[in-house]
Amino acid sequence: MKILLVLLCITLFVALVSSATPASVIIVGAGMSGISAAKQLQEAGIYDYLILEATDRIGGRIHKTQFGGHTVEKGANWLHGVGGPEKNPMFEIAKRINLKNYYSDFSNISLNTYKQEGGKYSKEEVEAALNKTESNEEFGTEFAEKLSANKDVDDDMSLLAAERLNNMEPKTALERMIDFYSFDGEQAESPRITSLKHVLPRPEYTLYGEGEYFVADERGFESIVHEYAKIALAYKNGGVIDARLYYNKVVTEIEYSDTGVTLKTEDGRVFQAKTAIISPSVGVLQSNLIKFKPELPLWKRRAIDEFSLGIYTKIFLKFPRRFWPTGPGTEFFFYVHQRRGYYAIWQQLDNEYPGSNIMFVTVADQESIRIEQQPDSKTKAEAMEVLRKIFGKNIPDATDIMIPRWNSDRFYKGTFSNWPAGYTEEKHNHLRAPIGSLYFTGEHTHAQLFGYADGAYFAGAETANDVISCLKRKVCKGNINMNITEHAFEN
Ligand SMILES: Cc1cc2nc3c(=O)[nH]c(=O)nc-3n(C[C@H](O)[C@H](O)[C@H](O)COP(=O)(O)OP(=O)(O)OC[C@H]3O[C@@H](n4cnc5c(N)ncnc54)[C@H](O)[C@@H]3O)c2cc1C
Ligand SMILES: *[C@@H]1O[C@H](CO)[C@@H](O)[C@H](O)[C@H]1NC(C)=O
Ligand SMILES: *[C@@H]1O[C@H](CO)[C@@H](O)[C@H](O)[C@H]1NC(C)=O
Repeated sequence: MKILLVLLCITLFVALVSSATPASVIIVGAGMSGISAAKQLQEAGIYDYLILEATDRIGGRIHKTQFGGHTVEKGANWLHGVGGPEKNPMFEIAKRINLKNYYSDFSNISLNTYKQEGGKYSKEEVEAALNKTESNEEFGTEFAEKLSANKDVDDDMSLLAAERLNNMEPKTALERMIDFYSFDGEQAESPRITSLKHVLPRPEYTLYGEGEYFVADERGFESIVHEYAKIALAYKNGGVIDARLYYNKVVTEIEYSDTGVTLKTEDGRVFQAKTAIISPSVGVLQSNLIKFKPELPLWKRRAIDEFSLGIYTKIFLKFPRRFWPTGPGTEFFFYVHQRRGYYAIWQQLDNEYPGSNIMFVTVADQESIRIEQQPDSKTKAEAMEVLRKIFGKNIPDATDIMIPRWNSDRFYKGTFSNWPAGYTEEKHNHLRAPIGSLYFTGEHTHAQLFGYADGAYFAGAETANDVISCLKRKVCKGNINMNITEHAFEN
């Protein structure tokens, strides 16, 4: 008995010590940014990194699932990439591997917008509301450029304030719905809190072109992430077999100094390295799932807590038969309710998956939170009530429903970040800034492409470059003293 116990202790000790041999880098999280960082390290000849991932898969907020006999995306779905001055690297990969994607055509939406109690709005009514939003986007873009040109002050306002300044604040239910589609539908938060200066003009449009392409491929959007991962990690039979990637490792504690880091995971393991790259969402950082020792300085906690993570939910429904029109110009339809964003944006998947009888409806922000809390049966009943207003009483009930719950998931807490009005560029620099051996990455750390999957890709590479420069050339940003405006609060 005693010998067994001793043996057990030795095995445990060896396991702990072997993982405690300091690596150069530990990457927390195997989403797009973490994988991009790993690829960058690998390409720079730094091979002794580890990746600790809380779940049992790579991809994070890029996540396919099976629904109604097809692959649908719980997370990222669209790529921008045609006609702009730059090439979206993720779109280039999608092209190379022939990932099926479809141009999202909203041009016919003025013929497909339904009233709260049923029946359509006239084409003219919807066009007038669309014109108003377009005017707000144009005015906002011009004004944002003026604000940015003045480098002396970090001046900003909300999108809503810009709409007021333009004398075009949405007033009717229809105008609010179109406003929701243009702004909440992109930012996942209301124009009341969204920054004008950091959201308009939309960098995805100006860099890559205005078209949005919807990925619908049985291999999933995440096959793009795997294409990058293959550059860094060993694969066999389509799956990662690399010993440096640890699944089901929930990092709960990070002790850091100028010279190294010690990470503890929920299952009691200890990992050490010279540096760590922290990639979970800003919502996870706000939630205190990870305890930092010592506590992060106030300037860092403020940069984290004052940024915003939106919530955006695609609710998938499967039907026994099709009762909606198909063909050109019918893919999207809108439902207008007094309650802003109530089951507002609908998309049927007949183009992508003919005969699948699948549709989904997108909600955001407070509606997402509400729907995450209630049983699926309640959500299905609400969605059916809306569909019966649109298509009549005799349509069949959905046979299946799938609701991603990103907000309640402690490894995400939301879907993509949003820049709040008044959050300064200086603060965003603090969000990205390393502290000693701790480096920060993730979509939220990209100053232009925050929120987007390609933002996560660029952020991961940039953070890895900072780490590489520190390890190879001893130029370490984390050692630059961030001696900032906080002494009024801290002493
Ligand atoms: C519903 C939805 C729709 C979207 N639509 C689009 C779109 O159409 N186009 C687009 O470009 N982008 C879209 N996005 C955004 C895009 O998916 C993200 O910007 C991007 O995937 C974020 O990558 P990341 O590496 O920064 O974060 P994540 O993907 O969140 O990666 C972080 C990783 O860290 C892990 N983790 C968290 N906590 C811990 C811990 N304590 N210990 C260890 N590991 C941990 C997580 O499991 C995760 O794998 C969407 C996202 C969602 C959710
Ligand atoms: C909307 O704007 C277009 C283009 O500027 C214009 O032709 C059209 O008449 C406007 N429609 C309405 C209903 O205001
Ligand atoms: C636009 O939508 C209407 C209503 O669903 C449909 O009848 C029409 O064919 C569509 N037009 C185009 C040009 O796509």
